[in-house]
Amino acid sequence: MRIPLVAGNWKMNGTRASVTALAGAIASGCKAGGPQVVLCAPAIYLGAVAEVIAGSSVMLGAQNLSDQDAGAYTGEISGPMLRDMGARYVIVGHSERRRIYGETDALVAEKFEAARRCGLAPIVCVGETLAEREAGATQAVVRRQLETVINLNKLAEFEDAVVAYEPVWAIGTGRTATPAQAQEVQAFVRALVASRDRRIADGLRILYGGSVRADNAAALLAQADVDGALVGSASLDAGEFLMICAAAAARVKIK
Ligand code: 13P
Repeated sequence: MRIPLVAGNWKMNGTRASVTALAGAIASGCKAGGPQVVLCAPAIYLGAVAEVIAGSSVMLGAQNLSDQDAGAYTGEISGPMLRDMGARYVIVGHSERRRIYGETDALVAEKFEAARRCGLAPIVCVGETLAEREAGATQAVVRRQLETVINLNKLAEFEDAVVAYEPVWAIGTGRTATPAQAQEVQAFVRALVASRDRRIADGLRILYGGSVRADNAAALLAQADVDGALVGSASLDAGEFLMICAAAAARVKIK
């Protein structure tokens, strides 16, 4: 059985006071028997959030990491540093990193490898733009993004990894993929992995991300290959985020 996972990606939002309050509200609202919950805080607040969630079931995640472990890389933050601050997960290859900061498929694969080297579980993001979807290239794009990671890393490294399908056109737009659209691509991702290793594919958690909210989470999470959610703006509101977690808890009972 795949344990559902709900990850909040706070992106570059908040203050020390607001993120610690948010983390505290989420940690105290998480019920036993629900999904795994990961909070991907801005790097500078990881330590503060770690203190607040200590002793709770909520886990800490980061939003990005360097492909290097240490050295003269001004401004970068390494996987070992994230681990040192208590992070267990790290988002890799978010479309905002690819699109705004020019991260290539090759760099994303290197970052995935860097995360595995230090024992962080990568949440690797894949997804097409609207133009790519309209051109019928969704599967080709997702395949290229994922295969670049698989080819550099051994498939065994996917054992603890997570894949997030985040169609770029659904991020921050209020335009969510339909449950059927999410399921179609996520089944494709699982089949791609299964063509190499059925067991790893069966255990792989594949999240959907892109305008997930309390009012659409249940329908998305009812899909066979939607094992959880990567939540952006709705994760900045503890009440809304906890409702999404409750929708994922229902999935725990279905399975
Ligand atoms: P929104 O939920 O704000 O659309 O963001 C999704 C996302 O990018 C999560 O990583």
